[in-house]
Amino acid sequence: MFALATTAIAWVIFVVTLIGWIVYYFANRNSARNELGSEIELAANRTPYYDDEILEGKRLERVQFIGLLFLVSITIGLPLYWVFEPSRMAGATTDQHDKFVNYGKALFATTAEGGFNCAGCHGASGGGGQAAYTITDAKTREIKAVNWNAPAVNSVFYRYDESEVRFILVYGRPFSPMSPWGLAGGGPMNDQQIQTLIEYLKSLQITRVGCAPNETDPKTCPTGILPDTEQKRISDAAGLAAQKLVDAGRYATTGAAMGEALFNLNINSGAYSCARCHTTGWSWGDPGVPGQGAFGWNLTGGSTAAHFPVQQDQINFIKAGSENGKKYGLQGQGSGRMPGFGNLLTDEQIKSIVEYTRSL
Ligand code: HEC
Ligand code: HEC
Repeated sequence: MFALATTAIAWVIFVVTLIGWIVYYFANRNSARNELGSEIELAANRTPYYDDEILEGKRLERVQFIGLLFLVSITIGLPLYWVFEPSRMAGATTDQHDKFVNYGKALFATTAEGGFNCAGCHGASGGGGQAAYTITDAKTREIKAVNWNAPAVNSVFYRYDESEVRFILVYGRPFSPMSPWGLAGGGPMNDQQIQTLIEYLKSLQITRVGCAPNETDPKTCPTGILPDTEQKRISDAAGLAAQKLVDAGRYATTGAAMGEALFNLNINSGAYSCARCHTTGWSWGDPGVPGQGAFGWNLTGGSTAAHFPVQQDQINFIKAGSENGKKYGLQGQGSGRMPGFGNLLTDEQIKSIVEYTRSL
């Protein structure tokens, strides 16, 4: 359509110019012809042209020198252009990407700043926060105002892949303050806005100190493969916070106090904990029976041991998280909503959590 219109316009311009030149030629040919004998009359004010001496001297050299300059600029300039072109193109791509990240940032901003208020709940830089919410007590039907932990989103890509994050953004987290944002979920944002938000969330992700032993992708793991003993910053922070609670005697579970502490941990608004999904009321500071299920499933009554007869299978499941449609355990089918913790916690920490959940 566009191409057709431009082609048509180009043809019109071409034909008009062509006709113009033809008219000009004939008009000029008739009007500008010199009168007979005019060379002789006009000859008086003609200056004689340079003689050979001048033409073949400095003047020639100057013209040759200018020619040489042009030649040099072509022989040097073209290869230089060729050398710099890839980085120019890469720069243009980055520039375009940065633009999208900035659009996403504007969407993420608080209502006062004209955004959709992700920052109001998840913190200005996505480090987690709290969301005012009202819940109805299941038994008494009493309505209560609570503050619901809004998890850190600056580590969300360590827990979920892009399609899972997109699903959360489009459809929200049901029965929580996280409402649907995509048009398909009944929210206000179109696909492009969701995508720019995702680009912004990616740019927010905290950098990691170490890498998992099997990680080789330089994009997610710029430091290269580090030995297994290299502690990751996040797991360090989680471990320290959990150890404090254990030392304070908060958890008495025999043998699995560390696992219990990690299960219930509240750093970055519970982004690294299990209880926010697997214990009702944990998110608003009024936890029910630990692990009895909320958004995530009931893990008590020996159900996890029944669903994962081999403990290592359960550890692997928690490391990777669930994947939509993929089988886990004996007969479980994942939905992609259970996050993976392999990037956030060490194998040892996950093992202690698994031992704790199997004791529930
Ligand atoms: C009214 C407060 C509120 C607003 C506004 C809000 N969220 Fe949330 N969001 C939450 C809460 C609370 C949760 C966790 C719900 C739960 O406990 O399962 C959540 C969960 C999430 C998650 C899943 C994280 C995880 O690990 O489970 C992502 C990603 C997310 N929000 C991104 C966003 C983005 C992007 C926006 C802006 C378009 C946004 N949120 C707006 C409160 C909010
Ligand atoms: C964002 C919410 C969320 C968080 C956080 C979460 N889970 Fe889950 N979990 C789920 C959901 C949802 C399922 C159901 C499987 C599915 O939908 O894919 C599930 C399933 C499971 C199962 C399988 C249950 C069964 O018997 O089939 C186990 C075990 C489990 N989670 C353990 C954990 C542990 C341990 C943690 C913390 C390290 C954790 N979960 C953190 C949401 C969550």
